Amino acid sequence: MHDPINRRKLEHLQILRDDPQTDRRKFYFDPIRLTHRALPEIDRDAVDTRVTFMGKTLSFPLLISGMTGGADEALQTINRNLAIAAEATGIAMGLGSQRIMLADAQARASFMLRDVAPQTLLFGNLGAIQLNGGVTPADCTRLVDQTGVDALCLHLNPLQEAVQPEGDTNFSGLAARIAEVVRALKVPVVVKEVGTGISDEDAKRLIEAGVTTIDVAGAGGTSWSRIESHRDSTGCSSGELFQDWGLPTPDALRLLQPYADRLTLIASGGIRNGIDMVKAMILGASLCGVARPFLDRAAESPERMIDLIETLRRQFTTAMFLLGQERVADLINNRTLLLHP
Ligand SMILES: Cc1cc2nc3c(=O)[nH]c(=O)nc-3n(C[C@H](O)[C@H](O)[C@H](O)COP(=O)(O)O)c2cc1C
Repeated sequence: MHDPINRRKLEHLQILRDDPQTDRRKFYFDPIRLTHRALPEIDRDAVDTRVTFMGKTLSFPLLISGMTGGADEALQTINRNLAIAAEATGIAMGLGSQRIMLADAQARASFMLRDVAPQTLLFGNLGAIQLNGGVTPADCTRLVDQTGVDALCLHLNPLQEAVQPEGDTNFSGLAARIAEVVRALKVPVVVKEVGTGISDEDAKRLIEAGVTTIDVAGAGGTSWSRIESHRDSTGCSSGELFQDWGLPTPDALRLLQPYADRLTLIASGGIRNGIDMVKAMILGASLCGVARPFLDRAAESPERMIDLIETLRRQFTTAMFLLGQERVADLINNRTLLLHP
């Protein structure tokens, strides 16, 4: 029998399948209006969506946000299909939490993706709270080395832990622990949330800890609070009450704007189309992460994944064309493209 973490991952996937409302579909980007150009004065075919992120060229600024990994065959299939699709389309990919690699040797294979994704910009992943539970900077180095990832994401999930029956809620002193990991690793550390956002005060602390890249992972899409509410048999969980708690992704991006000179921002949480991506970049993001919409497709085949990636690319390109912008660098933090800056 596999490790309890593996079982929990499978439970989460079942809940996501059974309850469509775990994707909150808040469409927080919709009220943001952009300045349409009737005379874009460019050729749509000349729009160049390529970007460089952490030294690697991406065909367009999309990240498959970290979701899974584990000993079960279904989890392995998902990660391999994600990796094959990311490599084929030239986008970035995140692994789900690698904590299980420390506990269950059988789970390791699902995180070893360099054979199918040799060039892909790959992010590793670990819950920052584990650093208060005995996981050391040396463990983090090992997780990075074993998988050959380009960076390690440390996720912050205080709400998820707080509503989880078995949650770890001692978040004290965590910024100092994160600083130790930043100092120990040879690759960059990205700090991310999981769907409730990172505030300006948090960003200030993280900058002091030496972090230079933050994924705001705000509210509006996947709600871990709602997912965990289904796992509580006592009926006492506050998961449903808190299901929409947090900073909507566009608001989190706005809060972090004063730190644009010190931080590279990734936007995720409720990004559902290429227009959302363009809006997130105008609000300061350099890369956009999407998780949930890929999940069911990843269980099916790389081709199903690629269909969605190419749809997002077409939408993103069309939005750039209609704003009269040929280069992605000209979108990032360009408030003149907002109808109401
Ligand atoms: C099935 C699933 C599993 C996830 N597992 C992780 C994880 O292990 N580590 C992590 O940092 N975030 C995890 N996330 C959060 C995503 O990386 C992302 O930040 C969040 O879901 C918001 O994106 P979305 O609204 O597009 O789903 C997971 C999301 C989903 C849908």
